[in-house]
Amino acid sequence: MKILAIIGTPTRQAGYTTQTVDALARSLRARGQVEIESIYLEDMPLARCQGFLTCVKHGEHKCPVGPQMAPILAAMRAADGVIFASPVHCFNVSTLMKNFIDLLVYQMHRPEFFGKKALVVTSAAGAGHKAVLKYLRKTVAIWGFEVVGQLGTHAGLFGAEKYQARLQQATDKVADRFLHALARTRLPEPGIAELINFRVWRSVVKRTAEASPYDWAHWQKAGWLEQDYYYPAKPGFLPSAAAGAVEKIIERTIRTAGVSPLT
Ligand SMILES: Cc1cc2nc3c(=O)[nH]c(=O)nc-3n(C[C@H](O)[C@H](O)[C@H](O)COP(=O)(O)O)c2cc1C
Repeated sequence: MKILAIIGTPTRQAGYTTQTVDALARSLRARGQVEIESIYLEDMPLARCQGFLTCVKHGEHKCPVGPQMAPILAAMRAADGVIFASPVHCFNVSTLMKNFIDLLVYQMHRPEFFGKKALVVTSAAGAGHKAVLKYLRKTVAIWGFEVVGQLGTHAGLFGAEKYQARLQQATDKVADRFLHALARTRLPEPGIAELINFRVWRSVVKRTAEASPYDWAHWQKAGWLEQDYYYPAKPGFLPSAAAGAVEKIIERTIRTAGVSPLT
């Protein structure tokens, strides 16, 4: 199994985010035949996302940072599973991780990582783990990853023997879950949140066909405009009906400009 760790800490090997990923890697290696590669975003010459949505509208090949992103994307495509790791910086992911996510904004419109499994990892001095793990989970799930586990560590406690014992237990548990999921090839049945998300993007793509021709062409070529999910699925009646209802509400809201500015 090929596992890639994308690590968004500026402190690289010296930091607790890396120590957390390393602990996880030890548990993974102790349990199975795994090949683990790490990419430190700090080492990658990634310019900032310029914010014009050129990748969404006209294709990711038009992004000026595309060539710098290419090796990371190639490694993601080659991996069976990816670990996304970021320290907590001011109750959010690090700037490095956020820029990496921004540079992949088109993956929200045109996800490609179905069938791949992911873990999300963070480290903080004290607080903010939950917000960061939730954000990472949600983001990479939209890109198509099946998120099968998470791990958050407390930087100041790494020196304590008791904490190290607990960390070992936690990494063993997460590693078991990850390896079990990696052995599974069947795609997960989408839940209500995934179905709603698909419908929302489908509405967006249809509505913005003129402004975002590349996005629309991709959806048409993939057959997604006529489907109820990105891949063949058999969702139950209730989740499908709920997703359909939400789609109609959103379409009507957009058509009638039926929202007020937030105050
Ligand atoms: C800019 C910055 C912001 C931070 N914000 C938080 C925070 O919101 N909550 C927290 O508990 N720790 C915060 N920390 C501490 C880091 O999360 C902690 O030191 C973490 O282990 C850093 O990861 P690293 O060792 O991989 O660099 C912050 C650190 C930095 C440098």
